[in-house]
Amino acid sequence: MNEIPQTIPEEFLSLNSSPAYLFDLDAFAERIRRTRGYLKEQALLCYAIKANPFLTWTAAACADRLEVCSPGELRICERLGVPLEKIVLSGVWKDEDDIRRTVRAWRGSNIFTVESAGQFDLLRRISEEEHCPLRLLIRLSSGNQFGMDEEAVREIIRSRPSYPQLTFLGLQFYSGTQKKAASLEKELGHLDEFLGELYRDFGYRAEELEYGPGLFVPYFQKDASVPEEELLAYVSDLLGSLSFSGTITLEMGRYLAAPCGYYLTSVRDIKRTRGQNYAILDGGIHHLNYYGQTMAMKQPFFYYLPKNGQPAKDILDYQLCGALCTAGDVLLRRAALPHLHCGDRLLFCRAGAYTVTEGIYLFLSRDLPQVYFWTAAHGLVLARGADPTDVLNAPRDSSVY
Ligand SMILES: Cc1ncc(COP(=O)(O)O)c(C=O)c1O
Repeated sequence: MNEIPQTIPEEFLSLNSSPAYLFDLDAFAERIRRTRGYLKEQALLCYAIKANPFLTWTAAACADRLEVCSPGELRICERLGVPLEKIVLSGVWKDEDDIRRTVRAWRGSNIFTVESAGQFDLLRRISEEEHCPLRLLIRLSSGNQFGMDEEAVREIIRSRPSYPQLTFLGLQFYSGTQKKAASLEKELGHLDEFLGELYRDFGYRAEELEYGPGLFVPYFQKDASVPEEELLAYVSDLLGSLSFSGTITLEMGRYLAAPCGYYLTSVRDIKRTRGQNYAILDGGIHHLNYYGQTMAMKQPFFYYLPKNGQPAKDILDYQLCGALCTAGDVLLRRAALPHLHCGDRLLFCRAGAYTVTEGIYLFLSRDLPQVYFWTAAHGLVLARGADPTDVLNAPRDSSVY
């Protein structure tokens, strides 16, 4: 377990400040480049920033587009100066004031997704009132609250001659994450057929298909893993086999971001209770939750970093627990590790996606994990400190008591 690969930057191993996320921006940029290369020009790449907004700037530099799903995500892009033409503004609920502000400020440089007939009416009305042409991707539903069913999409496409100020770029489709490659074939086949029907029935030839493949990231040691070049060659062949001849953009978060992030946590207490060894960590499930983990039984990829550099010879079984007030705060129910000491650290891998955004950070009012960026050019740089959350869990103004 403890052969630490050379791909992990040396500074990650010597950092003594935890809990912390470590994001290797060079690795992320390289992953986007490699993914694009393996796709053999069959598709453009869109990074869904919800997976990890800290990677937004790197993605803006390397990917073709960014999928942005809320006013907060949009403000992140605006602060970073992301080029507006790269932004697909998505989201099942879009507030009228937010859309209007965006349309006034950006004059239609970005793309909007359309998730419902109501959202279509709103976008159409704002476009008219603000005298601003807009570009739209109509979201086709996979059978949940997102997007519209085929009939509703057809209705919008049928009505398009009435709205010359709107450009109907094509369809957006995303059905879920951690999907096996085989299910993509069925989905893409269906989309291809539907795009063909829109042409046959309404003479509408979509220019674009923005498709979220939800590609699988192997998080656990027992997960079957397909070499990335094989997986992407398969996806590329699938895309190449479609009748649809417009531009395809793959909208992805997890697959691009997960391998580029690490989570560092330290052992703060050790005890043996009723025959079980427990290591209490300064992190926990509020920072790190691998999708598909069940009862902390599955072994993620992680490395043990002994405080004094030398692991003890004796191996013991530990339960690795966080510091929340719940018996569920277990990162790993059974870890065979060299005899642990306080100050030993654990470096969890594949923690670049949905860690900073999905944790239950506010529980127990603990400070946020620090965030570090790493690049070969600048080494390790602190991107966010251990910001307190207690200020969020109480009124700002004590006079309200
Ligand atoms: C519309 C949309 N696109 C893309 C993504 C990214 O998905 P993944 O991280 O599985 O690639 C999501 C995730 O929720 C999404 O909702």
